[in-house]
Amino acid sequence: MTELIIDVSDLSATDYLGRLLAETLPDGSVVALMGTLGSGKTRLVQSVAHYSGIEEGIVSSPTFVLLHEYDGKRPIYHFDTYRLTNEEEFRQLSPDDYFEGNGVTFIEWADKYPAVLPKERLEIQIEITGNTARRFQITATGNIFNKTIQRLTQELPIFRSTKSAMNTEF
Ligand SMILES: Nc1ncnc2c1ncn2[C@@H]1O[C@H](COP(=O)(O)OP(=O)(O)OP(=O)(O)O)[C@@H](O)[C@H]1O
Ligand SMILES: [Mg+2]
Repeated sequence: MTELIIDVSDLSATDYLGRLLAETLPDGSVVALMGTLGSGKTRLVQSVAHYSGIEEGIVSSPTFVLLHEYDGKRPIYHFDTYRLTNEEEFRQLSPDDYFEGNGVTFIEWADKYPAVLPKERLEIQIEITGNTARRFQITATGNIFNKTIQRLTQELPIFRSTKSAMNTEF
């Protein structure tokens, strides 16, 4: 198990994190997103989608829809368990079919139903640390995320530097 903490000061840095995830997450990976309302779970999925070649604007918050699918370079599956009241409701969406596919799956409020999640997953806990500041606590269970962790570790100095260094246009 590897753990990494990334502190960002603004949205562009969150988008940069999304870009790095889009570039490094292996096919078939599952990302468990956790954090309070408005912490940035949906925004991070939007960033990953953007850098996966998915048209801007298509990724909305799926709070009223339990599952969204987006087709970019590879499919992105986006679950939101916020409105689910029990584990069975989650299982009825056949999450394993998505987890086992070649796309990348994101689950908002993933900590509500940990038993449904695959053992190998990237956990991202987002904490609001300021108006536009966020702390991302990233935990990888399983070696499949080695490349992602390696790249994020390499880029830590960029996250600590200024906004302009991000060079994101999104
Ligand atoms: N550094 C940042 N990273 C992410 N979002 C940020 C940042 N700074 C400000 N924001 C704002 O915070 C909000 C995050 O909203 P978002 O819908 O992504 O949260 P969420 O965690 O998905 O909430 P919910 O639990 O309601 O689904 C957006 O309005 C976004 O513009
Ligand atoms: Mg959301």
